[in-house]
Formats: sequence, C-alpha cells, structure tokens
Amino acid sequence: MKKTIEEHAARFDDHATAYDESQDSDEYRAAASLVVKHASHEPDDTVLDLGTGTGAIALALAPDAERVIGRDISAGMMDEARTKAEEVGIDNLALAEGSFREPAVDDPVDVVVSNFAMHHLGNEEKIEAIETIAGLGPRKFVLGDVMLFGEADPDAPFYSPEVDDPATVGMLADALTDAGFSLTTVERVHDQVGVLVAERAAATDDAESTTNEGAARGFGLNGANEEE
Ligand SMILES: C[S@@+](CC[C@H](N)C(=O)[O-])C[C@H]1O[C@@H](n2cnc3c(N)ncnc32)[C@H](O)[C@@H]1O
Repeated sequence: MKKTIEEHAARFDDHATAYDESQDSDEYRAAASLVVKHASHEPDDTVLDLGTGTGAIALALAPDAERVIGRDISAGMMDEARTKAEEVGIDNLALAEGSFREPAVDDPVDVVVSNFAMHHLGNEEKIEAIETIAGLGPRKFVLGDVMLFGEADPDAPFYSPEVDDPATVGMLADALTDAGFSLTTVERVHDQVGVLVAERAAATDDAESTTNEGAARGFGLNGANEEE
C-alpha cells in the first residue's frame, strides 16, 4: 500500500464534495455500469459494496435489492452517499466505516461488489481482502478497478504511482481462484481498467451440470431429443 489507510481516508475526505464531478471519464463510467450489470442481484439479496465512496454503485443497486451495505474508510465520502440516498428516498442502504480487510459485516451477504477502490491496497493486502470477501460467503464478487492487462504505464490514465498500486489481471485471477471463486467473466475496459466477475464454485458446478445436461441432450442421452 503506497499510503496508510488513514492517509487514504484523509485524502478522500478532502476530495469528497468534488469527487462525483471529477469522475468524468468514459472508462470510469463503463466500469461502474459493468459492475452494476454483472451484480445482477435478486430482489431479496443483501449486497455489500466495499470502498463505496459517494455511493455510485450502492445507490444504483439499492432499488432492486433487499439491502445494500456500504463500507468505506472515508466518513466524508459516505456523508455524500448518505445525502444522495436521502435525496432520492433510498432507505435500504446501510453505510458505516469498514475496510476491505475488516469490513465490519456480521450479516450474510449474497453479492459483493467493489469499484475503483481495491487498487489502493498492496498485492498482499489484496489477497487478504479477497480471502476476507470469500469468507463472507457471497455467491458472487464483482470487482471493477484499475488493473493491468499489460505492462504498467504510469503515464497512461488511471494510474498514479504515488497513490495507486494496481495488480495484474493474472494476479487477481489467481487470488480469486485461490480463495475458492471461479473467474467467470473478464471485461477489459482499458489497458489499465477492467471488471472481473468471480462466482462461487457451487454456482459453477451448477453451470457445468447445465452444460453437461445440454451436451447430454444434444447426444440424445436424456430423452429430450426423442420428444422432438
Ligand atoms: C476512487 S473511490 C471509488 C468510490 C466508488 N466505489 C465509486 O465507484 O465511485 C475509492 C474509495 O475507496 C475507499 N478506500 C480506499 N482504501 C480503502 C480500504 N482499504 N477499505 C475500504 N475503502 C477504501 C476510499 O475512501 C474511496 O472512497
């Protein structure tokens, strides 16, 4: 981690009121909307948004979820999220201080999302964070972030070496699979921005059995073809 949690929190507190206006890149918007799309939650789901900031993702997901839990280290960023939630009458968003490695979440969560936040952690901390997320038992984790599809290029957008510590996509894929997820989707938004969808092995087993069932049907092994 290039800065301590306290330094990151202070930096985002200072920037909180101007944050939304500053997020005007196509790539940020694309990543945010892909995270929302891939979260594809059910109406009775509890969704956890880590590094929720001013609530871009949490507020988009809340109307179709049972409950959204937002966690962040910056009280200032969450104040902005709270104000926006009140303005639009969203009352199922629970915001409180929490970090990737200590999210302060006791209740079961169905889906975990995070957008443009995990790259502030060093790689060892990202691995711990992914293990912590897996330990919460979600069926899906959707990670949109600054991540490297090729060599790091500090001169390219979305990478400020003094504050950012982006991982390679390969490193994230290994950490997710080591934590028991299957990587089911990789969306490359930019050479240094992507969205990864990781699902629990059980969900993949279901997908595999659907595929096998489909294959079996194709070969007429389960009687489906006989009906045609
Ligand atoms: C670039 S903002 C992204 C906010 C929001 N997810 C979005 O898409 O607009 C990054 C956020 O991550 C938070 N953050 C940084 N390090 C964190 C950590 N270790 N645990 C939780 N949140 C963290 C910051 O306070 C900040 O609100």
